[in-house]
Amino acid sequence: MASAVSNLKSAGGGNERFNAEAASWDSRPFVHAASREAADAILAQLKTHSLHKATNDLNVLEIGCGTGILSFLLAPHVQRVVAVDAAEGMIDVLNQKLHKPNAPSNITPVAVLLENPEDPALPPARPQGSDASGDATARLKFDLITSHLVLHHIPDLAPVLRTMHGCLKNGGSVMLTDFQDFAPEARRFHPESKMDGVARHGIQVEQMTQLMRDAGFAGVEVKTAWRMMKTVEKFPGEFGTKGGPGEGQGEEMEIPFVMCYGQKPGQMLC
Ligand SMILES: C[S@@+](CC[C@H](N)C(=O)[O-])C[C@H]1O[C@@H](n2cnc3c(N)ncnc32)[C@H](O)[C@@H]1O
Repeated sequence: MASAVSNLKSAGGGNERFNAEAASWDSRPFVHAASREAADAILAQLKTHSLHKATNDLNVLEIGCGTGILSFLLAPHVQRVVAVDAAEGMIDVLNQKLHKPNAPSNITPVAVLLENPEDPALPPARPQGSDASGDATARLKFDLITSHLVLHHIPDLAPVLRTMHGCLKNGGSVMLTDFQDFAPEARRFHPESKMDGVARHGIQVEQMTQLMRDAGFAGVEVKTAWRMMKTVEKFPGEFGTKGGPGEGQGEEMEIPFVMCYGQKPGQMLC
């Protein structure tokens, strides 16, 4: 089976594209606004699912964290965020941000394409130096997995969802956010020059619901969580190779975003 990273590479996007964009990623207002909406939706969802005792006890895994914008927003509310991204350039920028004064101390950046819940790049299940018995190679399991604006880059979602399932504690949840494939116009989310590495034009609610159930998630809910405006091309290629609108270019389009929720069955053991 082709891996997600090999698919990303063969699509001409993926690591190369995101490594190249990493240094300027945080200069985009839309990226910050979308991450704030995602954080609000995740925190609201956590409150409605009272399975978790308190959010500040949660170990969170963010897959495709980019420069860590969402991780920074979640970190004050949870115990720890392990922030992984396949693009080393993105993780380099995150590392620089974490070395600045007043940066949160509970974010662990990891450069890895996560395809295996027991990947040695993940933190160990038991702290280093611990004399507790048990499998020293076992990896940490998480209460919550988030992934924002990532799924539309992954050609085959089934293996990624199975990996997420394997990274969760019993009773843990995924809260995955991305734009919705609401109509053929969803294609306009990306300018034509940014189509490399785009596997689908958003998330289709029914298809995603089935994929999550097939991966073993219970209580699956895929629904529109928020809507926001984005400046899109008036005609294909209007922005040229710049990737964004120049003076007087583009028009505003309302984009719906989905929250994909599911739980790994079982009793949560703390
Ligand atoms: C559109 S960016 C979003 C970054 C960040 N979540 C944000 O909203 O600012 C997608 C990110 O997902 C990462 N990515 C794509 N596929 C991935 C995969 N299979 N595993 C890990 N990261 C992946 C890319 O490297 C890229 O940094």
